[in-house]
Amino acid sequence: MEQKKIILTGDRPTGNLHIGHYVGSVANRLSLQEKGDFDKFYILIADTQALTDNADNVDKVKNNVIQVAIDYLSAGIDPKKVDIIIQSQVPELAEMTMYFMNLVTVARLNRNPTVKEEIKLRGLNASMPAGFLCYPISQAADILAFGSTIVPVGEDQLPMLEQTREIVRTFHSTYDCDIFPLPNALLPENKACHRLVGTDGNAKMSKSLGNCIFLKDEPEVVKQKIMNAYTDPNHIKISDPGKVEGNVVFAYLDAFCKNEHFARFLPEYANLDELKAHYRRGGLGDVKIKLFLNNILQELLAPIREKRKKLEQNVDEIYEMIFENSKKASEIAKNTLAKMKDAMGLDYYKFLKK
Ligand code: TRP
Repeated sequence: MEQKKIILTGDRPTGNLHIGHYVGSVANRLSLQEKGDFDKFYILIADTQALTDNADNVDKVKNNVIQVAIDYLSAGIDPKKVDIIIQSQVPELAEMTMYFMNLVTVARLNRNPTVKEEIKLRGLNASMPAGFLCYPISQAADILAFGSTIVPVGEDQLPMLEQTREIVRTFHSTYDCDIFPLPNALLPENKACHRLVGTDGNAKMSKSLGNCIFLKDEPEVVKQKIMNAYTDPNHIKISDPGKVEGNVVFAYLDAFCKNEHFARFLPEYANLDELKAHYRRGGLGDVKIKLFLNNILQELLAPIREKRKKLEQNVDEIYEMIFENSKKASEIAKNTLAKMKDAMGLDYYKFLKK
């Protein structure tokens, strides 16, 4: 039997999507969508996962489900090609998680580098909810419920994929079966896109740090954030030599700038290498590179913002669509769950047939 190509990826709905999401995942999803080389493509809004460290903040998570859905659609995700689904509306995922939890040790969960980093960042430790420690297991359920083979994610999600593959192997060997395909991560091609720094130079663009440029930001806000971005603190006079490494404007240019942008917005230079060389040499001011970046980002964000304004008028329809998609996804997950229970010998229903 030929392996079906099922793509699944997702985000936690804890805030609107920003340009870090755009280069890190959305752009990749758009190109996969356009290539069309798949049998099914899901994007999961992981509200249950978001609740693992937001139990007392259900409203925030709930309200961001529609925000993130609108962000996807306005960025160009085509609902005819991609099914946007809501994790909590596929309850089979929780049941699968319960069975998978018995196949993973607490020691193994404690070793997950991404979870470790998140614990540190959020200052969890003793106050860590059990659900938070276990979210990589529930993420495995997200991936395995639909037989996903391709999981487009950023580097930080590689430990989740590793955990998922381990669960597949352990499930198969424990219950002597072969029901799940082994999923593979798909990283974005452009290295600069793996993780976009915040406008303040912090390694992570994050809503709580207030260093994001959101897809929905108004033009003046985008410009202001760029004009305030961290560059090289020792590049004081225009004639000073400047540093490109650790400079937020160049980090963003690495991610967003194409040669064609020079022809349109900065014809004195042929490409980014020339611009960097001039900056390093001295004689190139921050305002000039910031205005260049601003032109590039404004051009990218204008159509997204416009589409969002239209979509915001159709919130009911969007809810209906993602609920409907989730219902269909739930049927598929039910089928997977039945296969799991059969393999486990958890087949009480067989008694009824006698
Ligand atoms: N952990 C992912 C994130 O924080 C979100 C997510 C949940 C996910 N389930 C998934 C990603 C399944 C890929 C596949 O961004």
